[in-house]
Amino acid sequence: MRLELTINGVPRVFEVAPEALLIDVLREQAGCRSVKRGCEAGDCGACTVLVDGRPLASCLLLAGQVAGRSITTVEGLGTPERPHPLMTALVEAGAVQCGFCIPGVILSAKALLDENPNPTAADVRQALDGHLCRCTGYVKQIEAVLNAAARLRAGKEGAR
Ligand code: FES
Ligand code: FES
Repeated sequence: MRLELTINGVPRVFEVAPEALLIDVLREQAGCRSVKRGCEAGDCGACTVLVDGRPLASCLLLAGQVAGRSITTVEGLGTPERPHPLMTALVEAGAVQCGFCIPGVILSAKALLDENPNPTAADVRQALDGHLCRCTGYVKQIEAVLNAAARLRAGKEGAR
């Protein structure tokens, strides 16, 4: 079947099987390798992408379920040369160890900050509670998201 998606702001068209999962279309056909394959059961958060701004597990979605929607992956947020403030803050806090969980964490944190630019630590913890990290113990990730939020707020105030 023909599938239209907007991926990281770019309209794309794919030919997919009706049973194709979103994670497979993103990784294998769209080239979005930041989308990680972990548990494939909705438990680890590694495959999280934003669907119209909302974080969802791409391993649980048929690609056809999100036809016509806007998908954001980490490739759409920044690059090593021009990182998003969340990326910078995670690295600075030492929250990136093996890195496997990080793309999903970034996207859930982005969705939180888009909705609530001034979250509490409890808000961040709640936003990230679907993400398993076997390396960091989460404390540094929460600290990093709070730091990124402060930087983004300061940037907006500076731009006024
Ligand atoms: S791979 Fe999708 S939630 Fe674990
Ligand atoms: S940094 Fe290794 S799983 Fe999170």
